Formats: sequence, structure tokens, C-alpha cells
Amino acid sequence: MLGMGRMGAALAGRLLAGGHEVLVWNRSPGKATDVVKAGAVEAGSLAEAVKAAEVVLTCLSNDAAVRHVALGDGGVRGSIADGVPYIECSTVSPQLTDELAGMFDHFAAVPVLGGPAAIESGQATYLVGTGPQTLELIEPALASLGGAVRYYEMAGLASTAKLTVNLMLLSGVAALAESFTVGRSGGLHDDQLRELLGEAVAPGLKNRFEALLGAPAAGWWTTVLGAKDAGLAIDVAEGAGIHLQVAPAVRQAYLRAAEQGHGDEDIAAVRYLYRS
Ligand SMILES: NC(=O)c1ccc[n+]([C@@H]2O[C@H](COP(=O)([O-])OP(=O)(O)OC[C@H]3O[C@@H](n4cnc5c(N)ncnc54)[C@H](OP(=O)(O)O)[C@@H]3O)[C@@H](O)[C@H]2O)c1
Repeated sequence: MLGMGRMGAALAGRLLAGGHEVLVWNRSPGKATDVVKAGAVEAGSLAEAVKAAEVVLTCLSNDAAVRHVALGDGGVRGSIADGVPYIECSTVSPQLTDELAGMFDHFAAVPVLGGPAAIESGQATYLVGTGPQTLELIEPALASLGGAVRYYEMAGLASTAKLTVNLMLLSGVAALAESFTVGRSGGLHDDQLRELLGEAVAPGLKNRFEALLGAPAAGWWTTVLGAKDAGLAIDVAEGAGIHLQVAPAVRQAYLRAAEQGHGDEDIAAVRYLYRS
């Protein structure tokens, strides 16, 4: 498991709980302590981790990180053994995952719907984009991750599916922050807003109600990652010659929240843009 960020550590935890031997690596030292305590072994280098692996997984920040780890010097491509599948779990562009699918014998794009807590509790959804042969090879790993699986026949489609959902959630959270602001500006109480909007929004938005109304948010999907995801979604539509209307404003909102010092906080920190 390459990448010991929030998601990589949670994925490694599931694999350990599933009885696998898990070798981990992270660019910066010191991030694997908890996973090692839970039974993983930290590799001395990226190449060492990949050479020993029967399945390679990455979960990293963005396209640049995945490109570097997958294709850079000492990266996955140079060290992976013949026939070993490579599962890429980050939220990245469909172009990148399709490119990687063409470069590795057995590549699967497996972006994740749900944050670290959903992975840990076995309630995440894995959007699996690969061919049937690779699917068979990665099934033991997928079974240990638990949760639900949605299958797509190409890597890029799984990445597109992930960006499709994320844009809806990012837009919804930003719109909800504005709806709360409008309600409060006109004199409605928070309890009235909870009741009123509780009936109108999807469960994926409802779980950010309290954070948007002012409770501290546990940071899991950061504003920096949210802005990145909105940008990738915009690129997908642009690639089809379509100029989105709302998504650029949504992206700007998360960028601004990050620039105002909330880059490491959950996307609910978009609410700080509306402080009077
Ligand atoms: N957080 C969520 O709720 C959530 C949910 C679904 C999907 N995702 C997606 O999952 C991915 C990981 O998210 P996360 O929350 O785990 O992020 P994170 O905690 O910020 O971790 C990012 C990881 O990427 C590594 N990294 C960044 N640039 C690198 C580079 N150039 N070379 C090597 N490693 C590099 C980091 O290493 P260092 O420690 O050295 O910086 C770290 O291990 C992202 O694509 C995100 O969009 C996140």
C-alpha cells in the first residue's frame, strides 16, 4: 500500500483486518506508525515495497503524485513483477487512469466513495474500472476492503463516476452553506433550518449539517482535495466541449476557503466564506 495519508492508512487497515500481510510506504517518514502498530511492515523504499508485492495499491493526493509514484524513477512501473495487479484508489483524472491501464499488465482504477471512516467500517463503495481478468486477480483484496462494488469496464469510466458523484456533493455542500446563510440572514433559527432543509437534501449532504451550522468538522475531505476534484470534473466536461456553469464557482469557493487558511479542514469549512 503506497501512500499513508488518511485514505491509504484506512485501506491498509482493512487489508490487515482481512488477514493479508501488508507492506506500506509513504513519501514522508512517520505517517505509518499506527498502521505498523496494527501489524503492517514499513518498506525501506518504494521499489522495495513494489518488488515484494502480490498486489500493489496506491492512494495519493492527485494526478501529479500518482504519475510520480507510478511512472517516476524507482516507481511502480520499474519494479512491479509480471502478472501482479496494480490497484489505483486516488481521485484522479480519467485520462491518467486510462493511460495507466495501457501501461500495466493488470491495472484497475478503484476510486472510493466514502472517507476513511466509511472504509474502516466497511461501508465505502469501490468504483472498480478494469477488465474481467484483472477483476479476478484483485477480488481477494476487494473482498477484504468490504463495502459495495460498482463495476465499470474501463479505468477511465470509474474515475469519471467518482468525479460525477463528487461534483454533486461539492456543489450541494456549497449550496447548503448558502441556503443556511440566506435563512439566517432573513431571521430563521438553526432548528427551523434543520427541520426545513432536512427534508429537502440527500443523506450525503445531511451528514454535514452540523458542521455547516458551526460545529467543528472532523477533517476528512479537505477543501484542497474538493477544489481539485471540482477542477477534474470541469476538465471532463470541457473534454466533451461542454462549459459547465456552476462547477467553476463551486471550485472557486473551495479554493477561497483553502486560501483563507482552511486547506486542511473538511469541505464544510466553505461556511467560513459566509461569516458576517
Ligand atoms: N479524504 C477523503 O475523504 C477522500 C475520500 C475519497 C477519495 N479521496 C481521495 O483519495 C486520495 C487520498 O486522499 P487522502 O485524504 O488520503 O489525502 P492525504 O491524507 O492528504 O494523503 C495524501 C497522500 O499522498 C502522498 N503524496 C502527495 N504527493 C506525493 C508525491 N508527489 N509523491 C508521493 N506521494 C505523494 C502523501 O504523502 P506525504 O505524506 O509524503 O505528503 C500522502 O501519503 C485523494 O486523491 C483524494 O481525493 C479522499
